[in-house]
Amino acid sequence: MNKPVDHALIDFNDEDSNRSANPHFAQVLDARLSRRSLLRGGFGGATTAVLGTSLLAACGSDDPVAPPPAPAPLPAPAPSPIVTRLGFGAVGKSLADVVTVPAGYTATILYALGDPLRAATPAYKNDGTDADFENRAGDHHDGMEWFGLSSTGTPSLTAADRGLLAMNHEATTDETRASFFIHPTGGTATLPRPVDETDKEMALHGISVVEIKKTGSAWAYVADSAFNFRIVPTTEIDIGGPLRGNALAITKYSPTGTVTRGTINNCGTGKTPWGSFVTGEENWSGYFFRVATDNTVRGNDKSVTSLNRYGRAQGAASRHGWETASADDRHVRFNISRSGVSVDGSDDYRHEMNLQGYIVEIDPYTKAKKAVKRSALGRFAHESAAFGTPVVGQPIAVYMGDDSRNEYIYKFVSTAVWSAADATPTDRLATGAKYLDQGKLFVAKFNADGSGQWVELSMTNPAVRDYTGYTFADQADICVNARLAGDAVGATKMDRPEWCSVNPKNGEVYFALTNNSNRRVDPSGSSQLAPDSANPRAYSDIRGGSSTNSGNPNGHILRLKEGSGGSSATAFTWDIYVFAAETSAATGTVNLSNLTGDQDMSSPDGLAFSPTTGICWIQTDDGAYTDVTNCMMLAAIPGQVGDGAKRTLSYARSGGGTLTVDTYVGAAPTADNLKRFLVGPKDCEITGIADTPDGKALFVNIQHPGEGTRMADVTDPTKYTSQWPSNAGYGAGKRPRSATIVITKNDGGVIGS
Ligand code: FEO
Ligand code: CA
Ligand code: CA
Repeated sequence: MNKPVDHALIDFNDEDSNRSANPHFAQVLDARLSRRSLLRGGFGGATTAVLGTSLLAACGSDDPVAPPPAPAPLPAPAPSPIVTRLGFGAVGKSLADVVTVPAGYTATILYALGDPLRAATPAYKNDGTDADFENRAGDHHDGMEWFGLSSTGTPSLTAADRGLLAMNHEATTDETRASFFIHPTGGTATLPRPVDETDKEMALHGISVVEIKKTGSAWAYVADSAFNFRIVPTTEIDIGGPLRGNALAITKYSPTGTVTRGTINNCGTGKTPWGSFVTGEENWSGYFFRVATDNTVRGNDKSVTSLNRYGRAQGAASRHGWETASADDRHVRFNISRSGVSVDGSDDYRHEMNLQGYIVEIDPYTKAKKAVKRSALGRFAHESAAFGTPVVGQPIAVYMGDDSRNEYIYKFVSTAVWSAADATPTDRLATGAKYLDQGKLFVAKFNADGSGQWVELSMTNPAVRDYTGYTFADQADICVNARLAGDAVGATKMDRPEWCSVNPKNGEVYFALTNNSNRRVDPSGSSQLAPDSANPRAYSDIRGGSSTNSGNPNGHILRLKEGSGGSSATAFTWDIYVFAAETSAATGTVNLSNLTGDQDMSSPDGLAFSPTTGICWIQTDDGAYTDVTNCMMLAAIPGQVGDGAKRTLSYARSGGGTLTVDTYVGAAPTADNLKRFLVGPKDCEITGIADTPDGKALFVNIQHPGEGTRMADVTDPTKYTSQWPSNAGYGAGKRPRSATIVITKNDGGVIGS
C-alpha cells in the first residue's frame, strides 16, 4: 500500500524516520568527481478485458500432509521466447471497476482472499463470518513467484502447466485498527482488541504457497493440494546469519536467540538461483507497541536510538492493537516495552522488533522445513531481493531497496562463490545458508556525475566502527541497524526504493523509486531534502486543474551498471531509465521521458523482468494520478545505462538564485518498447508478477480493491468503492477481495509478443 487512506489512524506504510545529516545536494555537487571515462558513450549531449471466473478443483482428501521434498534431477530449461517488440495494442487509462487487458488477451481470477487451501475448510462466504484463515488465502496479495512441478510432483524448471505460486499477504484493509472486511460489522476500533478479531487479523498476514494447474487451456488453483500451505505470524521461523544466537535476538520465546515467529507485512519477493522463494518484510514496525515511558525504563540506552530510527517512538499506537488482545504470549509479544528484570532480555520482548525486517527464505516445495530469516542481508523495510545473474566461480550479488522516504539502496555479496551444481540442490535451504549467511553488506552512494559506489557496512570500515551516532557491537548489530550504518557512511537518501530487478539481457539493475513527498527545492525541517542527481525532481502534481502533492509525486526508475568486478564491484554507473509522469505534464521539468498517453504512469512500485521473455513489467501503487486512472501495469523493453543524455534541471529558489541539478535521462521510450498492458479495478494497487517458463501464462496480483470504503459502510455493498471480483462473477458476497489473476493470450501465444 502506498498512499494513506484518509480515514486511517496513522499511515503505517510510508514511514519517515531518517534524520541523519547525510550530504545534501550542494555538498555532493562540491564533491563532484570527474569520471566521464566510466560512462558509456551515450551520454553527451484497448480494449476492455474479458473476465472469467475460475473453477475450484474438486476437493478430495482431509487435511493433507505435504509430500517429502523430491530431489529429482532437473532437466535443462528450453531456450526462452525472448520478446523483442511489444506486439499488443496499448490499454487506455480507465476508472472502471474491472481488470482491463489488451485485445486478444483474457484475464481470469484464480485465487482470492479467503479461498480454502484444504478440503476440510469450507468455501468462503465473504460476509465477515468466515474462520480458519490459517487454511485460507490471506489478504493483500503482493509479491509472487512461480515454482514448476512435473507431472509426478517433483520440482521442474521447465514445467509450464503445473506449479506452485508462492506469494506474500502484505496487510489488510483497515480503519482505526480493525481489518473491517473480515469482521461481520467491521470490527472493534477500541482497545482492548477482541481475541477472535485479533487472531483472524493475524492469520491474514504471511505467505501462501498454492498449487495451480492448467487443464486444457483453463488455469485453476488446486484447493486440496498437499503442496498448499500458509506461513502466519505464529509460525516458528529460524534465524540465520550473524544475528543467530546474538544478544540482540534474545527473547522470552527464544532465550538462545535462534528462532522467532512469523513474517509480517511482506511486500516484494525473489527467486534464488537455487530454486527457493525469498520474501521481504516491509512495514513491520507499525505492528509493535511501546509504553510512553519505555525510553526511561531502557535507561535511554542505544536500543532507543535503534527503535526511533526504525519508526517506533515510545507511546506510538500500534497498527492493530494486537498486543492488547490477551495475556497470551502470541499477543503480548507485540508489546516491545522493556518489562522484565533480566539483563539479557530473556524475560520479555524488548528485542522482538529486531526479529522483523529481513529477507526470509522459504522452500516452497515443502512446508516441513522451517523458513529462515537471512539476517546478513540487513534489516530495513525490504521490498524485493533481486539476484545478479550467477557466474561460476564468482560471488552471488543480491540487490535490495528500503522503502521509506529518504532511505537507501543495498547490495549483499556472498562469501561463497557460485557452483553450477547448486542450481538443482537436494536441500534448497542448506544451499541458502551457504550463499546468504556469510558475506558483505553494502549501501549505495550516487554521485552527481553519474558514477556511484557501494560502501561496505562492517566493522572494518572506520566510518561505521567509529560512528558517533550509534556504537555498533558487531556485524549482527550492523545488520540489525543497517539504516544507522548507512547513515554513518553518508549513503544517498532515495525517493522510496521499491522493487528492484536484474535485466537478464545485460545484468543491469533496475530500481523503482515510487515517490517522495519530502523533496523540496527549498527544504525545511530535518525530513525534507533538495533534489539531487539520482532523485532530481521536485514539483507539484496536477490534479483536477490545480496543483497538489509536492515533492516527487510520480516517481522514477533508476538503473545501474556494475563496474569491473561484476557481482563484487564497488563502483557503478547509473542513469534514470524513465521518469513517471502524466503525459500532459511539462516535458522540460516533469515529463522528462516524453511519455505519451499510452505510456504515462505514476508511482512505479512492482518491477520485475521476466526471466523468460525479458519483458520488464512495471506495476503502480499510486495516489497522484488516480483522479484519471486506476493503478496499472506496463510492459517495457528497455535499453541500457547511458543510452540517453545528460540533462541539467534548473530550479528557482524562493529566496532568489537558482539550484541546478545534473541528471542522466535514458533514451525516451518508443511506442513499441513501453506500453500500458493492464488497468486494475477501483482503489487497488497492481503488484506481484510471475510467468510460466513458456511465457504463455502471466500471474498478477490485484491488491486491496475498494480500500477507500469506510468501515461504517461495510454492510452496505452499494457504498463499497469496488465490488471486484464479485462483479466479475467470482465467489460469494460483494465485499472486495485481493486476488491473483492469470492472463493468457487467446491464440495461445507468448504474453507481450
Ligand atoms: Fe508494500 Fe513499498 O510497497
Ligand atoms: Ca510495493
Ligand atoms: Ca495527478
